[in-house]
Amino acid sequence: MPIRSIIIGTGSHVPQRVVTNKDLESRVDTTDEWIRTRTGIIQRHISNNQETNSYLATQSARKALDMAGVRPQDLDLIIVGTMSPDMPMPSVACLVQNELGAKKAGAFDLYAACTSFLYALSVADKFIRGNSSRMKILVIGSEVLSRVTNWEDRNTCVLFGDGAGAAVITGTREDRGILSTHLHSDGSLGELLIIRGLGTAFPVSHENLEKGWQYIQMQGREVFKHAVKAMESAAWEALETNGWNGDDVDLLFSHQANIRIINFLGEKLGLPKEKIFINIHKYGNTSAASIPIALDEANRTGLLTPGLRILMVAFGGGFTWGSVAMCW
Ligand code: ACO
Repeated sequence: MPIRSIIIGTGSHVPQRVVTNKDLESRVDTTDEWIRTRTGIIQRHISNNQETNSYLATQSARKALDMAGVRPQDLDLIIVGTMSPDMPMPSVACLVQNELGAKKAGAFDLYAACTSFLYALSVADKFIRGNSSRMKILVIGSEVLSRVTNWEDRNTCVLFGDGAGAAVITGTREDRGILSTHLHSDGSLGELLIIRGLGTAFPVSHENLEKGWQYIQMQGREVFKHAVKAMESAAWEALETNGWNGDDVDLLFSHQANIRIINFLGEKLGLPKEKIFINIHKYGNTSAASIPIALDEANRTGLLTPGLRILMVAFGGGFTWGSVAMCW
């Protein structure tokens, strides 16, 4: 058998503070009913000043390493998918590397918005297949979108939550693991979902702060339309590559951005409700962290049994989207 990548440990961590839809009713012109029916979200976890991106990422990593029985010093590589790093430099991955004491690991961040975890998993998979079945790679999706959210903008502030999820990847010659990865992008649509002002093109200035360019700006309806199409196409691409049809998928992990998008995807694939993993009601849209948090929850509740056929599909800013199919 050729080398395949397998996940040998998962972990996740969310901030302690819970903000409910009811809490948001007193902040912006919204209702619990609107948020529930339009998004499926009931609450989200929001960081305090100590719960930085790298802190959440490190906590999730410790749990994943613990489950995998891998020591930090045995890691070869750390990849963090994020769009809300502690700072542009050093990377979150380097901060995590230092916190863990992962002395021999390379470390870098990967930016693909909500699709970052699938991009990072795909990169890890290529390392494992190309290098060695003995490599150990820590892949993390971690975000504190609350820090780049305009809490006076009801179009966005009700959607996002903070958190991190991690997975430890290694190789096997057994007939299981990651079967396919497909990554896509369309930069021509980048303006529809953008944080314009936290980079070098529009550096922080009073003028840009007044325009709100330090915050996520999203044309929700347009993003929604593109998300459903792109996610469906990435899902079918994975199925076709593996000779699967909808029935062959045992568990779908869709990016948790909107319950209507998740259910739409499930319907298109012909999946019954019990094959669609959903936790958006508890965490909101945690961007890069949404799929690894979901994976960890499923893993820790015993849902991920050997041989289970898993399909992961994500979509995010950029635009970016993609899918990963694996046999657990
Ligand atoms: N409370 C009450 N009303 C609201 C709220 C709110 N929180 N937000 C918007 N509205 C209003 C709008 O102003 C609008 O009012 P109008 O008709 O008077 O103009 C009305 O509700 C409908 O607005 P829409 O934007 O059409 O609502 P929609 O049903 O599209 O839901 C949402 C909005 C939830 C944002 C949806 O479009 C969505 O989920 N989009 C996709 C998000 C996504 O997939 N993101 C993935 C990537 S995210 C990432 O990469 C970080």
